[in-house]
Amino acid sequence: MELFDVYPLYDVSPESAEGSYVTDNKGRKYLDLYGGHGVISIGHSHKDYVAALTSQLKKMGFYSNSIQNPLQETLAQKLGRLSQCEDYNLFLCNSGAEANENALKMASFATGKSKVIAFEKAFHGRTSAAVAATDNPKINAPLNSQHEVVFLPLNDVASLEKELSKKDVAAVIIEGIQGVGGLNEGSTAFFQSLEKLCRQYGAILILDEIQSGYGRSGKFFSFQHHGIHPDIISMAKGMGNGFPVGGILISNHIEASYGLLGTTFGGNHLACVAAISVLDVIEKEQLMDNVNKVSSHFLERIKEIDQIRSVKGKGLMLGVTFDFPVAQLRKQLIFEEGIFTGGSADPNLLRILPPLSVETEEIDFFIDALKSVLKSINNSVKSN
Ligand SMILES: Cc1ncc(COP(=O)(O)O)c(C=O)c1O
Repeated sequence: MELFDVYPLYDVSPESAEGSYVTDNKGRKYLDLYGGHGVISIGHSHKDYVAALTSQLKKMGFYSNSIQNPLQETLAQKLGRLSQCEDYNLFLCNSGAEANENALKMASFATGKSKVIAFEKAFHGRTSAAVAATDNPKINAPLNSQHEVVFLPLNDVASLEKELSKKDVAAVIIEGIQGVGGLNEGSTAFFQSLEKLCRQYGAILILDEIQSGYGRSGKFFSFQHHGIHPDIISMAKGMGNGFPVGGILISNHIEASYGLLGTTFGGNHLACVAAISVLDVIEKEQLMDNVNKVSSHFLERIKEIDQIRSVKGKGLMLGVTFDFPVAQLRKQLIFEEGIFTGGSADPNLLRILPPLSVETEEIDFFIDALKSVLKSINNSVKSN
């Protein structure tokens, strides 16, 4: 049997990893400034995380949501405290798309409505309602397109109010900082108007923090830079440092009832231990402080490179734009310099999503490598 061929792959086979580095099957070490798509939060194979998961697996890997699982409560309490979101309730699932699917479903239950407002260039995942709220017709099948979704420009309060004032909107879903779309984000004034207008017209505000959450922006959730209080917050990626776990935080004013949401695997013992371990390490190693420190260092050092047009994003969720497509640059960074970076829907943007534990020396190594690759690209343009 062959694999269903949906992923364009780089010819690299990582076999082991530690901290900010992965090592391939030929023994070559790479600096990981991509974190497996923003997933690695506390660093690859962190020793506390490995020990916690190994010990749990020896005791029990899985049981369903039909029994008491105190690990879920421990996770909810730690998460509430560290994120300062204690007036929410936690529902656990397995991925980012599933988190948003449940968030949209809850908004629809809570309002009795079905229309969704999303934003241009949004990416919310590939399940039915989540992909319908994703601004990419190529990945929407006819089945998904039956959802009623309106895409609006970011930072356009007038068009938002016009749509919300029809009073038929269940939810507005927005990324704290757009990931796949290319690091665009709402201004503080826009987020504050969004919150106010959602309240005024009875729509549920869903903050997709799947990529921008868990400390990546320098605050636990990126919406906390804007002083707002969403109704539902979706999480995944950094939450399990590679163990598949996602979840939604649902504001106290939205009521639960038995059977309303559910999943077989969500919140299983291993997933909870992975997520608890991530929170413990974020706290113990003060990783949010590290994000702010390393981010400032990055922003300072990147100024040394004149070819850069702009730097977007916050914390360690950054995008560096050039006036040429970065596909070749990314390849050279991997194969010549041993550095993984990310791409996005914007072909000219290089995405930086390192583990939150990345060190300033590792950023220095990247800056020197970037200078050297840019020089070689420049030389080859001149000689052609
Ligand atoms: C902002 C955002 N939402 C949702 C998702 C979907 O998450 P998953 O791939 O875990 O389903 C992603 C994945 O890249 C994302 O970046």
